Amino acid sequence: MKKITHAVIPVAGFGTRMLPLSKSVPKELLPLGNRPAIHYVVEEAIAAGIKHIVLVGHSQKSAIENYFDINAELDNQLRQKGKDELADSLNWLPEDVSVSMIRQGKALGLGHAVLAARPIIGDNDFAVLLPDVVLDPFKTDLRRDNLAFMINAFAKEGHSQILVEQVADSEVHKYGIAKLSNDDDSEYKEDANGNQSFRVAGFVEKPKLSQAPSRLAVVGRYVFSNKIFAYLANTTASVGGEIQLTDAIDALISEYGVNVTTMRGASYDAGDMRSYMQAFIYFAQQQLTDE
Ligand code: G1P
Repeated sequence: MKKITHAVIPVAGFGTRMLPLSKSVPKELLPLGNRPAIHYVVEEAIAAGIKHIVLVGHSQKSAIENYFDINAELDNQLRQKGKDELADSLNWLPEDVSVSMIRQGKALGLGHAVLAARPIIGDNDFAVLLPDVVLDPFKTDLRRDNLAFMINAFAKEGHSQILVEQVADSEVHKYGIAKLSNDDDSEYKEDANGNQSFRVAGFVEKPKLSQAPSRLAVVGRYVFSNKIFAYLANTTASVGGEIQLTDAIDALISEYGVNVTTMRGASYDAGDMRSYMQAFIYFAQQQLTDE
């Protein structure tokens, strides 16, 4: 099976939970320590072997695309002043990695946003990274953990992989929650201390606690067979009046089987004011200690 080198990062959300910070600055560019939040997400993708990143955005989000482009005027000015090292540090994106943006048009939900990337992704299998979630880059080995594990598991097994994390009862209503399969043979272990991958029976999007089938929440990292696009194209609006990615995943499960991968390390929600502030403090503290 061809190794996955494409990833979709949906960036079209208005970030209403981050107002007023997100009123004129895309929430994905808000800082976590000394970098914009999306910087870590793109680094994570690249560490796992991704070469083509497709941002799905809208007209107010072009600053994100600019962040990953070279600002030739700034570059010239810095170099004229002898600040080559600073200029080089801004051009950190490897030469063999491309970042492009496509627009979602109508904001019809996460499933619709992922489908909007189809013209660029084409026939390739691909990863999806939700930029609200930032995985701890200080304690996680990004080249080996989570996304890299999921890409390898997909290559070995052929099943799409969805990253999940155990959450507290009070958190289940915020996430897609996994219903595990009862099939005992479904377990696939790579390494007893690391990520594990299990067959999953389905997902419930943002359930009430009483209806949650487990406490395993979808973290926002997915590795998909290209077949997901056909299901997304047939998915209609459901929870919250939106075209949900979880509904298309359920359809994929019924025909092909999908696995959940348990997460290593810690995740931070940078899309919610309270957890964003906690994440900012943590990232800043780590970077101040490293200086
Ligand atoms: C989305 C997904 C949900 C997932 C969550 C992770 O929801 O629909 O299944 O658990 O991201 O952050 P959103 O937070 O975009 O409403």
